[in-house]
Amino acid sequence: MKHDAIAVIDFGGQYAHLIATKVRRQRVLAEIRQPDDPLEAFAPYRGIILSGSPSLSAFGEDSTYNKQIYDLDMPILGFCFGHQEIAKHYGGRVVHGKQEWGRADLHILHDHPLFQGLGKVEQVWMSHFDSVVAVGADFEELGTTILSAGSMPHRFAAIGSDRLRRYGFQFHPEVDDTLHGDEMIANFVRHICGCRPTWTMDNYLEEQISRIRNQVGDGSVFLLASGGVDSTVAAQLFGLALGTERLHLLHVDNGLMRKDECRQVLATFHQLGLDAHLHFVDASETFLAALAGVVEPERKRRIIGDTFVTVFEHEARRLGIESHLLGQGTIYPDTIETGGTKRADTIKTHHNRVPIIEEMLAAGRVIEPLADLYKVEVRELAAKLDVPSEMIWRHPFPGPGLGVRLLCSDGQIADAERLAEIAPQVQELLAPFGLQGIPLPIRSVGVKADLRSYEHPVLLGGQADWPVLQEAAGMLFKTIAGINRCLWNLGPQMPSACRPLAATMTRDRLELLREADWLMMEGLRRCGVYRHVWQCPTVLVPLEIDGRGQELCILRPIHSERAMTATAARLPDQLLSELRAQILALPGISGLAYDLTSKPPGTIEWE
Ligand code: XMP
Repeated sequence: MKHDAIAVIDFGGQYAHLIATKVRRQRVLAEIRQPDDPLEAFAPYRGIILSGSPSLSAFGEDSTYNKQIYDLDMPILGFCFGHQEIAKHYGGRVVHGKQEWGRADLHILHDHPLFQGLGKVEQVWMSHFDSVVAVGADFEELGTTILSAGSMPHRFAAIGSDRLRRYGFQFHPEVDDTLHGDEMIANFVRHICGCRPTWTMDNYLEEQISRIRNQVGDGSVFLLASGGVDSTVAAQLFGLALGTERLHLLHVDNGLMRKDECRQVLATFHQLGLDAHLHFVDASETFLAALAGVVEPERKRRIIGDTFVTVFEHEARRLGIESHLLGQGTIYPDTIETGGTKRADTIKTHHNRVPIIEEMLAAGRVIEPLADLYKVEVRELAAKLDVPSEMIWRHPFPGPGLGVRLLCSDGQIADAERLAEIAPQVQELLAPFGLQGIPLPIRSVGVKADLRSYEHPVLLGGQADWPVLQEAAGMLFKTIAGINRCLWNLGPQMPSACRPLAATMTRDRLELLREADWLMMEGLRRCGVYRHVWQCPTVLVPLEIDGRGQELCILRPIHSERAMTATAARLPDQLLSELRAQILALPGISGLAYDLTSKPPGTIEWE
């Protein structure tokens, strides 16, 4: 079936994905396109949405995108930056500095199909520096916002030309704070673009099954099955499409898995009946040998990615199935981010997109049945395929596993001078919050303004309520350069001296991390909050504190929806005090800290 579809032009990662998810919720396919895509790329769509831009103000910048899209005879709707671009293109005027932040009331000035079924006043979400102050001849003002009672109206919050079928919203209908944003998006895609709601998981399932049968022909598939929800759903799909006899699953113990994980993963594949050719290889020796002595995070990632391929190729030869297609559970954001945006790769290399896999993809030797789906859709599909719910709701676990949660070091302090310089600034900034703080002589990966950062964390000490801790962290990031994480000391006491120790990826250190991670995971389940947090890495950092222990242990519970952004999740006090007692009792642990960092400026993983 050919689905009616909408193109979402990506002027800024997270917004575009959010919009696409919201359109798909209307059962209409939405796909991300890049600003400089050629005109032909837009031919298959029934409408275009221009996303907002994270740079907040694109004023004065040469906004480079393919403006020929305006020659297309299909409806176009822009949000925020996209709205301003549409206004400008058709003779309107945009000024810098007329800003609005947060909730506002949108007063709808005319009945219009875009607002069908809505009230005369709607709560919307604003976040912009620039504003449209005049529109071209064909356009009319559809809505005005008023931020709070008594404040001046902010005009041109919604504009449109029915003749040209061009529309713009200054606000963000894709965020939940725009209470009826979903309805506005539905009105555009269904009524203005005329899309039929055929993008359902039932249809997707049927289509994928026939696609897999066509692509595989008489052959078979060899799937790397980590046990995460993506590869498990991919395995179920292949099993259904081809029969288990034509599906080989390989589960690799790379030595970087969680405690007892391999056993559990294999048990699930048996339970699902996908065990006709279920292979397991303990390749921990190979991985650890390849990682010996390596400290730099990106090098670790590359080595792990490459070693997966080496192990996979070796196993395929050993089993005599080199000719099988390689199955992967890659999902849509991975596909898009590798498909040519400037951002993703500079931050972290994903293990399923290392160069050898790219070559195999180009040669048509890879099959990825989930490549069109978001995580939430994979979970929906999983439920249809009777994947057990513990599996569906497992926290995401990265391909490089504990390898990116066990920090390594050459024992040297990077930027010692800079650390000495910022230490008093940190103290001064935190004093009004009733907190102390020290920058730590270690570094982790983060993301700032879409670029990779590799900077120091600050450790906070003292008692404060959660909102105060959050505010203090936000203030540190805003004020002091060179800091990308903020931790809260959980014990035993605020350090007076810390030094990094030389440490690499060893079995002993991994064992210790596995134990701490196990305590964390068990704790989340025991307290009934496992589903409440999206993911919770436990991290070990080779740091001696006040002459004791070798490893600082860090807990990183987060809330997220798509992993593009995240906020620190608050854990119950009871759980924290249990973890404090349990983790600090592990041999070699020098201290315990709670990562308060949102993404950005931190990433979810530390490396
Ligand atoms: P970051 O750390 O970039 O992570 O904020 C975002 C999400 O992606 C997961 N992650 C990975 N998943 N291979 C994966 O399959 C990888 O190499 C990888 N690196 C990070 C991370 O756990 C989080 O859910």
